[in-house]
Amino acid sequence: MNDTPSTNASASAPVESKELTAFADLVSLCKRRGFIFPSSEIYGGIGSCWDYGPLGVELKLNLKEAWWREMTNRDDVEGVDASILMHPRVWEASGHVEGFVDPLIDCKNCKSRFRADKLDPEFLKKNQCPECEKFGTLTEPRQFNLMFKTHMGPLEDSSALVYLRPETAQGIFVNFENVQQTARQKVPFGIAQIGKAFRNEITPGNFIFRTREFEQMEMQFFVKPGTDMEWFEKWKQMRVDWHYGIGLRAKKLRFHQHGPGELAHYAKAAFDVEYEFPIGWQEIEGIHNRSDFDLRRHQEFSSKKLEYFDEAAKEKYLPYVIETSVGCDRVLLATLCDAYRLEGERTVLKLHPKLAPYKVAVFPLMKKPELLEMTDKVYADVKKHYRATYDESGTIGKRYRRQDEIGTPFCVTIDYDGVPNNTVTIRERDGMTQERISADKLVSYIHDKMANWKPV
Ligand code: GAP
Repeated sequence: MNDTPSTNASASAPVESKELTAFADLVSLCKRRGFIFPSSEIYGGIGSCWDYGPLGVELKLNLKEAWWREMTNRDDVEGVDASILMHPRVWEASGHVEGFVDPLIDCKNCKSRFRADKLDPEFLKKNQCPECEKFGTLTEPRQFNLMFKTHMGPLEDSSALVYLRPETAQGIFVNFENVQQTARQKVPFGIAQIGKAFRNEITPGNFIFRTREFEQMEMQFFVKPGTDMEWFEKWKQMRVDWHYGIGLRAKKLRFHQHGPGELAHYAKAAFDVEYEFPIGWQEIEGIHNRSDFDLRRHQEFSSKKLEYFDEAAKEKYLPYVIETSVGCDRVLLATLCDAYRLEGERTVLKLHPKLAPYKVAVFPLMKKPELLEMTDKVYADVKKHYRATYDESGTIGKRYRRQDEIGTPFCVTIDYDGVPNNTVTIRERDGMTQERISADKLVSYIHDKMANWKPV
């Protein structure tokens, strides 16, 4: 890597590019550079809760923006932002009160907790605890409801019981008619929402992979019965294309079809989009054909007719629903894992530029007044268009490395050669090439490069 900018396009000698093999390296980078911190850290943290720091919050916003634009730039998808606390009958209708349970097993000796369905059957057969390895200490599985409960108002009795929503989807179903009528939509159309969901997971962990509080980006697409499988296939393809579009590499993505034993209580068909994390292939998004299960149940439990009148066909029906449901935190983790590389002395996040917290870093070669005047102007110009950062401390090589580690795709240096003719050196993160260009062309140069970016 060059420490001083050159005037010609040039690339460093190729070095081995190593991918992420364990979450620990990423956790450390995220903490060190201000992406993600353990929640309530000064009190010793709290089970699997995490806080997004200055760079993490930018990355997350960019991800949500990419999803929201993809969904709502369509004429047939509207947005909502429903309340987290809902009428408790919602969760009876949805089946969550009765069925949103995991089988919980305790070890009476070391007090570890396990999900019976995730435990190696060998341990179950031998009644051996996988943690303390003692025999005969595992309890019988008991059904544990994953919904967090709280009380609305000052009375803490059962009449005041409410739940923190375990999925955002129900806020969409109960607003089906409101949205359809106010937005004057005709079936087929969809409703999109981004919001927090809460699950009292028995075994959270693996950094932000499985947490008790997380964000979902869900879209329910209401269709005429009989056209559901056709829409299901379309959304399956559109969703995996979106994952490619945010830079996830094709070799790290695959579909997993749910077999009859895996299908959720509401699902007629389901596919997961899986990503290959350092812990193996795991779900990042679920695509479900939910049939008319939800609208039928809400119609029954609320006694409110939710049928749609199809003017063209002159018939009434309960629409079927194709659901796409992606965990924001989980896909954010996938983007970080996918982008992480160790290349010689540098750690680099090869994030898609549209996700990168900063698009541009601006440096004066040295802290000299003759350079600072032009640097200030370039920085101010760039900031009008892109989230940018400024750094004047340390060698240029060190400054490049700082930006590589947080995924900044472009570094712009103002040097002595550039001041007289208003040129700057721009260095790209992935190939480490450097080019001298006119400062007036900087914004359009970055725009073109971002539009044509491809994962390495
Ligand atoms: N409305 C359907 C639904 O909620 P799900 O498969 O339970 O389906 C959808 O969840 C997505 O939400 C998952 O693919 C995952 O990305 C994310 N998710 C679910 N539980 C999570 C948890 N405990 N922590 C982080 N993300 C989670």
